[in-house]
Amino acid sequence: MKTATAHFLSALAVLALATYIACAYDPGPLQDFCVAIDDPKDILFVNGRFCKNPKLVSADDFFFSGLNIPGNTDNAVGSNVTAVNVDNMRGLNTLGVSIARIDYAPYGQNPPHTHPRSSELLVVLEGTLYVGFVSSNQDGNRFFTKVLYKGDAFVFPIGMIHFQFNIGKTPAVAFAAFGSQNPGVITIANAVFGSNPPINPDVLAKAFQLDKNEIEYLQKRFGALNK
Ligand SMILES: *[C@@H]1O[C@H](CO)[C@@H](O)[C@H](O)[C@H]1NC(C)=O
Repeated sequence: MKTATAHFLSALAVLALATYIACAYDPGPLQDFCVAIDDPKDILFVNGRFCKNPKLVSADDFFFSGLNIPGNTDNAVGSNVTAVNVDNMRGLNTLGVSIARIDYAPYGQNPPHTHPRSSELLVVLEGTLYVGFVSSNQDGNRFFTKVLYKGDAFVFPIGMIHFQFNIGKTPAVAFAAFGSQNPGVITIANAVFGSNPPINPDVLAKAFQLDKNEIEYLQKRFGALNK
């Protein structure tokens, strides 16, 4: 009897831990809402943002306007992300969700990148996108890919390197939903070749199996050597 109780209790503990781990990304809200403010004195930090006095909260804290307006895609990669996260919609603080509009020029791309804090659910509104993500080393770096048309959705699991490429000769538009108020983004090429200060090119030459001058060329392209 004692052993059965002990087993039951340890099973319960494991279950509680599993539940805790399963929701260990953005914590659930502990009140109706918690509208973000910047710490006026930059002395204290919290995991997320401070909450505005609820009495001072208004509908504008939960509002963003302009997702109907295409971003300017006239840049090196031919895409533009308009992100709505806790930085520009303060009411998202502690809610664990955010959204982005992504515009693609014909043959433009949202280059390989990863979101450290969130999965991404992408929906295509206009155009045709060649999308994909690569799984971890442990999984054999498998490439999961699909061509998406208007109305199609695709999910990029948290942490996986992924991209979207507009294979149509007309502009494309997609919306992305995130399970974080602040998913974060690491664009692979910019992070590796455009870091500040630059990573020693000997390191990158060996890592990418390239010559040092090829690495230095890439570092120039991504601006690392000007930082
Ligand atoms: C994205 O579009 C906005 C609005 O047109 C523009 O201000 C911004 O510079 C663009 N960003 C990039 C990376 O091109």
